[in-house]
Amino acid sequence: MNSNPNRAQTFSPPLTCSSMQNTSVTASPYLRAARGEKLHTPPVWLMRQAGRYLPEYLALRANHDFLDVCNTPELACEATLQPIRRFHFDAAILFCDILVPLVPMGIDLSFGKGHGPQIANPVRTKEDVNKLVTIEPRESLDNVLEAIRMVRAALPKDVALIGFAGAPFTLSAYMVEGGKPDPFANLKAMMYSDRRTFDALLEKLGSMVASYLTAMVEAGADAVQLFDTWSGILPEWEFRAVNLPVLQKIFAELKSLNVPLTYFVHGGAHLVSAMKDTGCTVASLDWRVSIPTARKLLGDHIALQGNLDPTVLLADERTIRRETRRIADEGRAGGHIFNLGHGILPITPIASVEIMLDELRRD
Ligand code: CP3
Repeated sequence: MNSNPNRAQTFSPPLTCSSMQNTSVTASPYLRAARGEKLHTPPVWLMRQAGRYLPEYLALRANHDFLDVCNTPELACEATLQPIRRFHFDAAILFCDILVPLVPMGIDLSFGKGHGPQIANPVRTKEDVNKLVTIEPRESLDNVLEAIRMVRAALPKDVALIGFAGAPFTLSAYMVEGGKPDPFANLKAMMYSDRRTFDALLEKLGSMVASYLTAMVEAGADAVQLFDTWSGILPEWEFRAVNLPVLQKIFAELKSLNVPLTYFVHGGAHLVSAMKDTGCTVASLDWRVSIPTARKLLGDHIALQGNLDPTVLLADERTIRRETRRIADEGRAGGHIFNLGHGILPITPIASVEIMLDELRRD
């Protein structure tokens, strides 16, 4: 059920962090679709594919703290490879978190048991922004870069490795709120009352993100993705005014790397046209917009990624097959990477992922 018709290579010898494979990925179905090619079976990977729905991940986490897994190259490599071994996805995404690079910038980050992230020193004033450290990712985030080197060496050549970062607006939301940014009162108060400080924060984050993603590609990532979980709270005109300049700057800086540049916004159906203006080369859509509608808005020069509602994987087999088929058919014209519209939910049954893959790969 899990064999992948796009990829000739199966995992022999076993896929481990020390097994060396050929590292040329020119034939990777993920990269081909990201460049607009039409493939018979769309390449597939899932946002948050490494994590709490996987028994092998839970076993790893039983002995290790979450941030320790992110910061220890052997453990991060193992967590990255787990979903590839089980499901033969077309792309691996580095195991890490969007908040990890904030730590060397001076942010006191923890993940309490059962809570989301917590930040003990929220950033709310001009002084707080000034205090943030300008980092050199090649030095202060070398553990993450080492994990990339290990994963790239271990992966089969036709599985692409995706490096990622949080988009500045989403990172700022956690930093200003001090944790889960809901209902965004502090964030929006800062944005509306002290725009100059807010812009300075986004700019600092934007420089960090651009140099971090560049270092990831230098370390072996074949593509990068920017996660913008919270920009969907902005109306389009605020998105364009507040957010677009820093996104354009990041993607312009990354352009010469010549790798797919994916931009994901959650709750961003009203922002699809604006996504085109960021300079991304792949638009990652959530389930609130259909692929044909997005295609009309974005034109033919941007690949599309998405966009199965993650809760469909909690439904019965017929529904999973129907929705998977619908999305694969909508993307059939080409330039489509199959994915979810947001991260896979921890309560997702493994069998549901297998049904989805069987539907995608069955002919
Ligand atoms: O996609 C992958 O499998 C790669 C790893 C990855 C993680 N987080 C691991 C993780 C990626 C790409 C992320 C991105 C991320 N992290 C986002 C953007 C995407 C999204 O889901 O909206 C955001 C907003 C975060 C911040 C974050 N990290 C939150 C809110 C939480 C707690 C709630 C949750 O989703 O689990 C985390 C923790 C986290 N990040 C876990 C994992 C596997 C769970 C940690 C654990 O308990 O083991």
